[in-house]
Parts: sequence; structure tokens; C-alpha cells
Amino acid sequence: MRVVRTIDALQEAKKNLSGSIGFVPTMGALHKGHLSLIQQAKKENECVIVSIFVNPTQFLEGEDLESYPRKEEADIKICELAGVDVLFMPNVDQIYEKDELSMGAPAIRGYILEGEKRPGHFDGMLQVVMKLLNLSGAQKAYFGKKDAQQLALVTQMAKTYFMEVQIVPCDIIRDENGLALSSRNVYLNDEEKYRALSLSKSLKRATKYIMSGELDTEVIKSEMLEVLKEADMVEYVAIVDREFNNLKKIEIGNTILLVAARVGKPRLIDNLWI
Ligand code: PAJ
Repeated sequence: MRVVRTIDALQEAKKNLSGSIGFVPTMGALHKGHLSLIQQAKKENECVIVSIFVNPTQFLEGEDLESYPRKEEADIKICELAGVDVLFMPNVDQIYEKDELSMGAPAIRGYILEGEKRPGHFDGMLQVVMKLLNLSGAQKAYFGKKDAQQLALVTQMAKTYFMEVQIVPCDIIRDENGLALSSRNVYLNDEEKYRALSLSKSLKRATKYIMSGELDTEVIKSEMLEVLKEADMVEYVAIVDREFNNLKKIEIGNTILLVAARVGKPRLIDNLWI
């Protein structure tokens, strides 16, 4: 595996790759969720490039940019063992110029739910993903359904800008108790970890209701909120279609249930695709 830290070194390393490229962009502190994306990329491509870059433009003022978990050595080992060909770990100067072009998330889909709670977050996310996708030269890029709105917006960006890369959605990986894996879970102590399960439990309760024939989204949301009383603060519970329009009735095969809540320090998100 080549570990490269500059654009020039990345371009050099790419010359030694032959065949299709799968790309997995990350912010590091890798866990089994990231690993599953890498494994899927390995299966579907001859070569795999992973990036680790804690992107400052997608963090809002007062968010955890400085304290975001950084585990460079462990991450390098994980990528090496997973059979990654090139690991790209640039610093901020490699990625950004002083007087940048700006990328704008769409006015509606980019500013509801996560975008409403973190205004501007998706602009910065799309900006860096555009750069990283272009740099990777990949035919396929892998994104987790865990960040459902991010996935939808990246897919839209690829379509809007006629990019040739295919965006591949990957399933959410959870721990043995159902907690969706996240780099930010390291902020949770044991008691908070337990209460953090209320997110996945609320989705399980919703599934139970839907299976028994309840399709009214208001009823399902209020059931979810009952379970979410264990969280410190619920930021939103939403039931939308795959285009992120609110739904009155569950549409099997076209619905995403989303939840965001604070438990202890971090804000956590989880979702379920039905
Ligand atoms: P990061 O949070 O490191 O996540 C990198 C990728 O891993 C994303 O596509 C995310 O959805 C996926 N992922 C995280 N946890 C997962 C889980 N439990 N199961 C499945 N996939 C999971 O998302 C970002 O970084 C950044 O916004 C990035 C796209 C790299 C742009 O800076």
C-alpha cells in the first residue's frame, strides 16, 4: 500500500494502478462501518483508493473540528490489512486555495434535517467530495447509508455535474447492540452508550408498527419519540421518501426514517430504509 500526502504523490501512485478504481472517502478514525465500504470497493474493483481528510469546511463554528478523533497509525494499519492500494492523507493546504470557488448544496434538500441543524455543512461536504472524486479518478465511489442525506446530495451532485463516477450506497454497520457505528461514538461513556441505543430502538419500534400495517407517519413518529425520551435532546424525527420529501403514509420501497439526537456530548444520527 502506498501512503501519499500530496496531490503529486497521489497522481504518481495512480500511474502504477491498472484496472478499475473504487474510491472510499473518509475522515479517519476508521471503524467497521468504513471497513465495510472498503471491502465492497475491493470486491467490485481491481484497485481501491481510500482518503482520510478531516475537512474543515464541513464543520460549523463551535463544532468538533479540533477534537475530531484522529488515529493515523491505526488507520494506516487497517487500510493496509484491508488490501487498500493507495491511502491519500492530504493536509488542508493540499486541498484548498485561498480564494476558492464555492459549492452550494441545493436550497431545499441541502437545508432541511441535517442541513437545518448544521447550515452550511453540506456545502463544505460537497465541495470536498467533488475535489476528492476528481482526484481519485474512480469509476465507483462508496458512501454509507448511515449519512443518508449526504449520500442523496452526493448522488445529486454527480448527476447535476454530469460526473462519470457511480455513487454506490452501502448498508449501515451496527455494533452487537444495534448502535450504528460512528467515529464520534468514542465520545460516549457506558451509560450514554446505553441511552444512545434509543436511536436504533426507535427505528425498531417503527419497523414493528409498519409490519403490523400501521402506515400513518404521524403515529409512527410519535411512537419513535416515546423511545427517544432516553436521549438528552431529540433534534428531529423525520419520515421522507428517497427524494427527501415528507411523507404522510409510509411507501414500502421508497421510505427513509431518520432520527438525530444528542446523547452526552455528541449528536448522533441513525436511519432506516424501508
Ligand atoms: P466519515 O464520517 O468518516 O464517513 C465516511 C463514510 O463512511 C461515509 O460514506 C459514511 O456514511 C460511512 N459510514 C460511517 N459510519 C458508517 C456505518 N456505521 N455504516 C456504514 N457506513 C458508514 O462522511 C464523511 O466521513 C465525510 O462527510 C466525507 C464524505 C469523507 C467528506 O468529508
